[in-house]
Amino acid sequence: MEFVDQLKQSVSIVDVIGEVVRLKKSGARYSGLCPFHNEKTPSFSVNPQHQFFKCFGCNEGGDVVSFVMKHEGLSFYEALKSLAERYGIPMPKRTGFADEETKVRSAVHRMHELAELEFRRQLAGDVGAEARRYLAQRGVNRESIEAFSLGYAPRTNAITKLLQRENFTAEELDQSGLVLKRDDGSGFFDRFRNRLMFPIHNESGKPIAFGGRALSAEDQPKYLNSAETKIYRKSMVLYNMHRAKEAIRKEDRVVLVEGYMDVIGVYAAGVHEVIASCGTALTAQQIQAMRRHSMNIVVNFDPDAAGANATERSSQLLLAEGMRMRMISLEGGLDPDEYCRQHGSDAYREHLKNAPNYFHWLAGRARARFDMRSADGRYQAFQTLLPAIQSLTDKLERVAVANDVAGYLGVDSSLVLDNFRKMAADRGRGAAPAPRETLRHTDRILISVLLSNPECREELIAFIKPLPSIRSGAAGKIYEALITLQENAAPITYTAVNNRLEQKEQDLLASAFLTGDAESQVATQEEAYACVEALIAEERERERTTLKTKIREAERAGDHTQAMTLSAELHRLSARA
Ligand code: CTP
Ligand code: MN
Repeated sequence: MEFVDQLKQSVSIVDVIGEVVRLKKSGARYSGLCPFHNEKTPSFSVNPQHQFFKCFGCNEGGDVVSFVMKHEGLSFYEALKSLAERYGIPMPKRTGFADEETKVRSAVHRMHELAELEFRRQLAGDVGAEARRYLAQRGVNRESIEAFSLGYAPRTNAITKLLQRENFTAEELDQSGLVLKRDDGSGFFDRFRNRLMFPIHNESGKPIAFGGRALSAEDQPKYLNSAETKIYRKSMVLYNMHRAKEAIRKEDRVVLVEGYMDVIGVYAAGVHEVIASCGTALTAQQIQAMRRHSMNIVVNFDPDAAGANATERSSQLLLAEGMRMRMISLEGGLDPDEYCRQHGSDAYREHLKNAPNYFHWLAGRARARFDMRSADGRYQAFQTLLPAIQSLTDKLERVAVANDVAGYLGVDSSLVLDNFRKMAADRGRGAAPAPRETLRHTDRILISVLLSNPECREELIAFIKPLPSIRSGAAGKIYEALITLQENAAPITYTAVNNRLEQKEQDLLASAFLTGDAESQVATQEEAYACVEALIAEERERERTTLKTKIREAERAGDHTQAMTLSAELHRLSARA
């Protein structure tokens, strides 16, 4: 396991988690929105000193490897490999970690990398002429073709041949999602034929699926997408996320469009924070993936009926997930890609800048449907907005938005608020979190120094080990873990200690060392020795009390010999103190 420790030491947990969670430094730690559960206020904490993360909301916690496993859905071996690759650390050839599942997944990854290259090669070659013409006619330039790794799938089973040449097994081919089994069982043929290919990447930029567009209207369906495989789950992936995430953070907003071509068009217009869901209704997981980078979203769906439907469905979910939403409606019934081409980048960016917030956009649409000259019409228009306002999760925000929209529509606000307060009152508040047990001051200091100061660790442990008092109480299991590790000559790290604890003590440890409540994260050696003295003094006091009780009992029972012996012991003890 040496390699694992070496890897953990060479990667920074803050960098790795910072790739996917917007982290803010506060004191010795970093905090952000938890990527593993739905939350609006940060309870996710990363501690660089202990190389550990912890969420106080959902209790997820661990080291950098378990973060990557959990976040990217990888096995232990795959997570190591992914980190090693990212940090340019050579993996030892012989590792005992790879299991069957892992091997298949890594084969499917490899097959996608090869396929992406092959599709690109085909697009550049003779058979790619028609696809190149199509792209040119749609205004996709060489730069975009390169940036998005666009390709062409020829009619000739190029991928099946390629993968067989590369010696992938039939089982692996079957799992790839790139080829299909022939009905008569005589082998495989390509899933994508004569299509323009859009590779879909995961957040680390690896190709995991493809969307293939027909080159002519007769060829149906217009888009053929990869089936789900071991490495591709549609509902989790956003098209272009790996390229967009930096811009999303910088601009602090996501621009969400419907199609691959829209992403490419808008990106080429200089708006790099653009993403799309790959031909599926937006899911909560996808929203959570974007929310890690920004809470602001500008939605720019197609103006057609399908787009309106998608807007309706998605906006409910976006509000429920706490996103601040603005809307773009482009004139002339154009989708974002067409609009950028016809009106230019500046015109599009102007739309982006002036996009109204969702409620004003909704109110604008309601306005067109009701008679806004009558008080009754205005009130009806307002009422159509109520369901959307109700889906805001924050009570104060609901009231503020209701007021704002009422003003915008010219509705008498006393009328509105009456009605609204009733509904708002119906919504229950979330359960208050259970009070948490905490470490007492002495234990916090001692454990902190034991964890972070190897020089005095041995001596400190020698001092505290005989003290029965450290075994009881909240910190008992933590001391026990520390002592066991020391006895086994195992490395003492936060993670190692954490791994030996039950959930309850893990929480205790985390709340003492990973939160901001713990003012000073690392105590000094002097403080630790002072604590040891205090503990020893406490122990003596306890022994004396016990002895005194026993002496009294012996005297009461008339056992004077026993009382004398105990008294002598008490004297010895007091002299020592
Ligand atoms: N889509 C799909 N299957 C289809 C049609 C559409 O998966 N049969 C998905 C694709 O991800 C597509 C998106 O829905 O990018 C939006 O569809 P559409 O607006 O029809 O396509 P565009 O991306 O605008 O492509 P184009 O401009 O080439 O028509
Ligand atoms: Mn389009």
